[in-house]
Amino acid sequence: MILVTGGAGFIGANFVLDWLAGGGEPVVNLDKLTYAGNLENLASLQGDQRHVFVQADIADSERVRDLMVQHQPRAVVNFAAESHVDRSIHGPEDFIQTNIVGTFRLLETVRAYWGDLSGQDKASFRFLHVSTDEVYGSLAAADPAFTETHRYEPNSPYSASKAASDHLVRAYHHTYGLPVLTTNCSNNYGPYHFPEKLIPLMIVNALAGKALPVYGDGMQVRDWLYVKDHCSAIRRVLDAGRVGEVYNVGGWNEMPNIEIVQKVCALLDAMRPRADGRSYRDQISYVADRPGHDRRYAIDARKLENELGWRPAETFETGIRKTVQWYLDNPQWVAHVQSGAYRDWVKIQYAA
Ligand code: NAD
Ligand code: TYD
Repeated sequence: MILVTGGAGFIGANFVLDWLAGGGEPVVNLDKLTYAGNLENLASLQGDQRHVFVQADIADSERVRDLMVQHQPRAVVNFAAESHVDRSIHGPEDFIQTNIVGTFRLLETVRAYWGDLSGQDKASFRFLHVSTDEVYGSLAAADPAFTETHRYEPNSPYSASKAASDHLVRAYHHTYGLPVLTTNCSNNYGPYHFPEKLIPLMIVNALAGKALPVYGDGMQVRDWLYVKDHCSAIRRVLDAGRVGEVYNVGGWNEMPNIEIVQKVCALLDAMRPRADGRSYRDQISYVADRPGHDRRYAIDARKLENELGWRPAETFETGIRKTVQWYLDNPQWVAHVQSGAYRDWVKIQYAA
């Protein structure tokens, strides 16, 4: 049994689905179901005894302790977080609460549980913390990519709160010996991505005939990784990562935002042409920049490759095509997110 937190969100849900599809042990999936948590992401697991969903907050120490004692997980994978930079600019409080206080409480609960283990169970237990490249700050165009030893220079309330959580995880290893692993990953994209983030927003807006809002000059650079490659990296680190170590995860795929948007438009032009025969590019609209917008992120993932032999399976070309296809194939998922109907899923799920 493993305990996954935040497993109804974008990456967590992909992780749980892939983990169980690959024959992994049963999963206890603990998620608060904020606006970003969507049980429809896990609909294919309905009736699957290997998946136990629990709606709870990682900061609810008593609840998490009881669950751990009941299910005796051999590992915790912590995805739970507030994750949207723009939301952190408008309202940082939730980010402080979940990403910092929540991670702290979870670490305390896990430390107590782990402290009561013995022998092989104690030795093989792992706490894997899923973090972001944004903790390293912003790069100039010619700077080398972030390595694991890059200084922490977070610039948004989101990245600052994730940085704080990373520091706490590190401290729990050094002070208490908790067997932790941390991964810092670049921007993910793929199925079940909430359509307030760049790539799904562009797909969904394009299809709806709406404007495609590009912040500032659109020349901000991100490194993009297909979500299933992130999940395989986490599995690899959980399996073989050295305790106390940090592993950067990236796609070797740096691209300016405007290029991403143009690629999405080109794919849609081919896969779902506009009725008027014009390109979706006509919908691109430059809008005011994000305050404090980081210019460039780039990940050096060589440590993960050299130590653990991990490399992404998808190129951006293959991953983005699969992603666009997924959104074309799942209009109901998109409609439920947009109408808020996905939140009713909890009621439906628990009606019985
Ligand atoms: P998401 O916002 O889609 O999902 C977060 C999930 O956590 C949601 O299901 C939400 O309900 C849950 N949650 C929030 N607060 C909680 C709480 N207090 N207790 C329990 N559950 C709670 O985010 P995501 O994109 O899936 O990101 C998952 C993790 O990966 C985050 O830690 C994020 O910082 C990290 N990360 C994301 C990216 C990316 O590109 N999306 C890249 C690198 C790292
Ligand atoms: P986002 O998906 O919010 O991820 P992050 O800020 O964590 O990197 O944004 C990715 C990039 O796209 C970022 O540089 C901001 C930009 N962006 C836009 O230009 N327009 C948009 O509407 C959104 C949501 C993002």
